[in-house]
Amino acid sequence: MLEALKKRRAIRQFDRREVERNKIEMLLEAATYAPNDRMREPWHFYVLQGDSLKRFEQVALDYLQERFPTKPHLVESSMKAIINTPLVIVVTSAIVDGDEGATIDNTFAVSSAIMSMWLMAEQLGLGMVWRTRGVGLVHDTALHHFIGATDSEQLVGTLCIGYPAEEITSVKKRTSFTEKTTWL
Ligand SMILES: Cc1cc2nc3c(=O)[nH]c(=O)nc-3n(C[C@H](O)[C@H](O)[C@H](O)COP(=O)(O)O)c2cc1C
Repeated sequence: MLEALKKRRAIRQFDRREVERNKIEMLLEAATYAPNDRMREPWHFYVLQGDSLKRFEQVALDYLQERFPTKPHLVESSMKAIINTPLVIVVTSAIVDGDEGATIDNTFAVSSAIMSMWLMAEQLGLGMVWRTRGVGLVHDTALHHFIGATDSEQLVGTLCIGYPAEEITSVKKRTSFTEKTTWL
C-alpha cells in the first residue's frame, strides 16, 4: 500500500487517446466505496468527454478571459491544462441544509472518494490530476452552472484524466511524519 501511495502522482499531460467506458465506470465504482458519514453517499459525478468537454473548454475560456483581460499568455497557458485532456469528471458534494457539520463531513467523504479514483486511475494505467484553481473552476459559479448542478451541491474537484503523456521521475518530496506528529 505504501508503495502504491508513493507511486501516485499528479499527471497533467495526456495523449489524445479516449478513455474506455469500462475504465471510466471502474473509476466511478471505486469512488462509491469511500467511507462516508451515516451513509449519506454525498457524491455526484459529471462526466465530460467529446462535445460536452469542448463546451466546457469554452466556459473555461470565457471565465479566464473575463478574469484576466490583460493577461492573454496566462489565459493561453491555463487553457493548455484542458485542451489536451480527453476526460474530465467533476465531483460534487451534497450540502445538508442547516447542518454545517454534516456538510463539511460530506466534503471529507467526497475527498476520500476522489483519492480512491486517483489510486484506481493509476492501476488502470491512467493519469489524473485533481484541479480546483484556474480551469478547475471549483471556486466559481461558471462550472457549477454549466454542469447543471443543483443549489444543494458544491463542487469539490475537477478531475482531468487520460493516458499519460509524461513520466514523472522526480522523487516525491514529503516532510517526514515525525515533524507533523505530536505523540500525546
Ligand atoms: C484539493 C486539491 C486541489 C488541487 N488543485 C490543483 C490545481 O488547481 N491545479 C493543479 O495543477 N494541481 C492541483 N492539485 C494537485 C497538486 O498540485 C498535487 O497533488 C501536488 O503538487 C502533489 O503532487 P503529487 O500529487 O504528484 O504527489 C490539487 C490537489 C488537491 C488535493
